[in-house]
Amino acid sequence: MDKKFYITTPIYYVNAEPHLGHAYSTVVADVQNRFHRMCGQETRFQTGTDEHGDKIVQAAQNRGMSPAEYTDLISGMFRNTWPILNVQPDNFIRTTDKHHIATVQRILQDVYDKGDIEFREYEGLYCFGCERFYIERELVDGKCPDHGTEPEKIREKNYFFLMSRYQDWLIDYIKNNPDFITPERYRNEVLSFLKEPLEDLCISRPKSRLTWGVTLPFDENFVTYVWFDALINYLSGLDYPDGENYRKFWPFAEHVIAKDILKPHGIYWPTMLRAMGVEPFKKLHVHGYWQMKDQKMSKSLGNVRKPQDLVNAFGTDATRYCLMREMAFGLDAGFSDESFVTRINADLANDLGNLLSRTLTMVKKYAGGAVPARDNPPEDSSAPAYELERSVPEMIPLWKQHMEAFEVHRALEEVWRVINVANRVIDKAAPWQMAKEPEKKGELDHLLYTLLEAQRIFSILIAPVMPETAKKIQDALGVASESRLMLESAKWGGLVAGTETKRIPSLFPRLDIKKDSETGQTQKKQKKAKKEKGKKMADTKEAKGAGDGLITFDDFMKVDLRLAEIVEAEPVPKADRLLRLVVKCPEERQIVAGIAEHFKPEELIGKQVIVVANLKPVKLRGVESNGMLLVAKDKDGLHLTTVATPGEPGSKIS
Ligand code: ME8
Repeated sequence: MDKKFYITTPIYYVNAEPHLGHAYSTVVADVQNRFHRMCGQETRFQTGTDEHGDKIVQAAQNRGMSPAEYTDLISGMFRNTWPILNVQPDNFIRTTDKHHIATVQRILQDVYDKGDIEFREYEGLYCFGCERFYIERELVDGKCPDHGTEPEKIREKNYFFLMSRYQDWLIDYIKNNPDFITPERYRNEVLSFLKEPLEDLCISRPKSRLTWGVTLPFDENFVTYVWFDALINYLSGLDYPDGENYRKFWPFAEHVIAKDILKPHGIYWPTMLRAMGVEPFKKLHVHGYWQMKDQKMSKSLGNVRKPQDLVNAFGTDATRYCLMREMAFGLDAGFSDESFVTRINADLANDLGNLLSRTLTMVKKYAGGAVPARDNPPEDSSAPAYELERSVPEMIPLWKQHMEAFEVHRALEEVWRVINVANRVIDKAAPWQMAKEPEKKGELDHLLYTLLEAQRIFSILIAPVMPETAKKIQDALGVASESRLMLESAKWGGLVAGTETKRIPSLFPRLDIKKDSETGQTQKKQKKAKKEKGKKMADTKEAKGAGDGLITFDDFMKVDLRLAEIVEAEPVPKADRLLRLVVKCPEERQIVAGIAEHFKPEELIGKQVIVVANLKPVKLRGVESNGMLLVAKDKDGLHLTTVATPGEPGSKIS
């Protein structure tokens, strides 16, 4: 790892308010910043707002404001959004900052003096939405691929950056530096674009058409094209060319963007840097889109979700967790309140929260509330605690590898795998039994120590994503050192015996999706809306000649199938078809199943079955059901599903 790290987000247009898409990129950058800082690196994190151009002027006009008043307002909204998500940039840059404007002008002059900017007459197809000229082959059915509108033919004299001069250099650079643009699909996309001859880039707009921009230093009748202005923020925020920060951080610059702005970042920006004689940035990390109901979430489509609403509904850490966990970096992801609630209940309330509260309760009960000593470990090397003691140190390098590769979702997956080992270890070791046998005191202490220590390490690994939760866990464990959230503290054995632990309120209370926090719909209305939507979809399918009935691998992976052991079974009063079951998977949960006509309760006890573990809880005849039992049905009736040889209750079926 390098000694330093510089991470940036796109600077967001101020033509609309911040939404979940902006929140995602910015939380990714914040998580990376915190991760690199906890690894001991000196870091810098910059975000900001992009405030020049036609779009902004139009948005200001729509609000009856001057561009300056309007940009102050919306830029302020972005700035104020980040603390709500506990995002802590070191610098918030605005392209209307005097210092930034001076840097843009200085760079333009340098590139002009070098002969890489030329004045030419140009006729081209211009999209006002994108503020750029298009060439025919970039259009889809003659229309702008982003806006779906026909670009206008415009003829004017403009300044051009001679980008084509750098095409061969760029191709070689990308080929020789495989990590320059990741994930790979985006690197390939840029390379494939570069197979065609690169056009020079029009970098000016006549003031007759647009005045809200940076005046060209060599021709005051023109302002700078918004992208040539905006990209420079990554340098002006470091006080290029003479600033200490520039010298320190530029060689380590990593940019986070979504795929919509791949071309400016993958092509314009490196060639601009080359023309300036500046080393290229180190890496470009490209993620996919958050979609709402199969459409990109975007301000122009008016289907956005505000960060403040998410935080109101789920809390800051849970929102950050879901953003990181629900999107595989590089791919698109669908947003819904339901998926966030399911994720929070399963991962945060159940797996993480329950583990802590169970452990603290046992430490209170069996060890007087203090961290017990671990100096009498069990002799049996197959004792469950050893599995956890082994799994935790093994997990750390894998977690780190995923974090470094910007695969935060996989890093979290890795931590949750071991959190579930911890939960299973409790069930297997049955400390409540050990507590009844005085000769097992040493083994019980060792087990409790192992559980507490594992959670201290979990708290460090989740800290970049959930900083407040990490602190809460550490407070509960009585960890007091200054460097408690540094990665070097994640070495096994850090907890000191005798330290007082503290029971704390549950980390993440279970959520109930009674009210859609976005639309304020009641459940009844939601059901009706869903029914109508279902009908519409069915109608559309029928019209199209029926869907193919296929689901994607990702759809399938959303279903959490688990092996479960039935430990209790009894009829539900006044319901002929229902049985109330308690299954172990690995925690005990109640499921109501419509199988009473086919099985006697007593014949079910001890059976291993397959259940869907992440179904939203429902009440059947007033009894809560937290899952669904899978059965096969044929002419003879119902058959339980199970595995060929007995397995560990709670094992994932995949
Ligand atoms: O393009 N899903 O600004 P912008 C995921 N000013 N990320 C999304 C998203 C979605 N549905 N919608 C937006 C600009 N984003 C320029 C950038 S940089 C020198 C200039 C995020 O306000 C994502 O990071 O349109 C995307 O690249 C960015 O917002 C676009 O923000």
